[in-house]
Amino acid sequence: MYRQVLVFAVFAAFLCGFPASCARNLNYRPIIGILAQENLEDDPHAQGSSYIAASYVKHLESAGARVVPIHINRTEEEYEKLFNVINGLLLPGGNVDIEKSQFTRAAKVFYELAIKANDASDYFPIWGTCQGFQQLTVLTSNKNLLTLTDTKAVALPLTFSPGAQNSRLFKKFPKDVLQSLAEENITSNFHSWSLSMQNYSSNAKLKRFYRVLTTNTDGKKEFISTMEAYRYPFYAVQWHPEKSPFEWIEKAGMVHTLSAIKATFYTAHFFVSEAMKNHHQFSSQSEEEKALIYNYQPVFKGLNSIFLQNYYFD
Ligand SMILES: *[C@@H]1O[C@H](CO)[C@@H](O)[C@H](O)[C@H]1NC(C)=O
Ligand SMILES: *[C@@H]1O[C@H](CO)[C@@H](O)[C@H](O)[C@H]1NC(C)=O
Ligand SMILES: *[C@@H]1O[C@H](CO)[C@@H](O)[C@H](O)[C@H]1NC(C)=O
Repeated sequence: MYRQVLVFAVFAAFLCGFPASCARNLNYRPIIGILAQENLEDDPHAQGSSYIAASYVKHLESAGARVVPIHINRTEEEYEKLFNVINGLLLPGGNVDIEKSQFTRAAKVFYELAIKANDASDYFPIWGTCQGFQQLTVLTSNKNLLTLTDTKAVALPLTFSPGAQNSRLFKKFPKDVLQSLAEENITSNFHSWSLSMQNYSSNAKLKRFYRVLTTNTDGKKEFISTMEAYRYPFYAVQWHPEKSPFEWIEKAGMVHTLSAIKATFYTAHFFVSEAMKNHHQFSSQSEEEKALIYNYQPVFKGLNSIFLQNYYFD
C-alpha cells in the first residue's frame, strides 16, 4: 500500500514536471489582466488617454474569470508588481503602433516577465487577439514581419493544419464546434495586417516558437489565423472570438449564429482554464478589490460603434 502511494507520488511529480499537464490544484478564482491601449483619435466618447473594449472583459467573465485593467504609461516596477498578482494576460485587438506605442511598451514588459516565469515553472498564460496576435509576433521576432491583406470585414472558416485539432488550444473543443470552425464562415476578421505563412516560415524565431494551428487566405496571401507557442502557454488568434456574442454593429464579417457563439465560449473556456493553472494572488482582499475592473463603468458608444461599450482610463 505504502509502495503504491509512493509510486503514485513519483508519477504525479513526473507529470507535473511538464507545466501543461499539471492539473492538480487549479485556482478557481482566476484574475486576468487586459492591457489598455491609446484612445483612437476619432473616438467621440473618449475620456482620459486609454481604453479597453468591454467585449474582451465579457469574453473572459463568461468563462469564470475576473478582469483587472492594466494601464498604459506605468513604470516597470508597477507592471512587475501587477504581474505577480494576476493569473494571465490578454492582449486585445485595436489600432495602435505595435512597435512604438505605450501598449507595446507594457506588452513587452509582461511578455518578458511571462517568459521568465514560465522558464521557472511559474505557469503564466498569454492570449493575443487580432492586434494582440500581431503584437506577439513582433515581441517574439523583434521585427514587424506583417503584410497587408484584404481581410477588413469578412467571416471565414478556419483551415486547420494537420494535427491541429489535437493541439492544446483545440483538443478539448467539442467535435461539432471544431467542425463548425472548419466548415462555416464564423470567424470574424477585422484586420489590414497579417503574418503570412511565407514570412513565418522564413523567420527562424517565429518558426521555432509558434506552432501554426490554422491558416486563412485573402485569395492572394496565405496567413496564420491561429497559433500556439510550443514551449509556453501563449496563444494567438488573428480573428475575433469576442465579437459574436458581445458586439452588435451591423457590418460584413459580424456573425451571431449559434455555432459562432458556442465557438466563442470554448476559446474563453480554454484560456481561463489555462489561467487557473497559475497561483499568483493579491496580498489582501482590499488590494484585489481596488484593482478589479468593477471599479470602472463602461461607456455605451451606440449600436453603430465598432465597440459597443468601452472602459476608459486616465
Ligand atoms: C508617460 O507618458 C508621458 C507622456 O507621453 C511620458 O513623458 C512618460 O515618460 C510616460 N511614463 C512612462 C512610465 O512610460
Ligand atoms: C514580409 O515582411 C516584410 C517586412 O519585413 C514585409 O514588407 C513583406 O510584405 C512581408 N511579405 C510577406 C509575403 O508577408
Ligand atoms: C466564406 O469563406 C470563403 C473562404 O473560405 C469565401 O470564399 C466565401 O466568400 C465566404 N462566404 C461568405 C458569405 O462570406
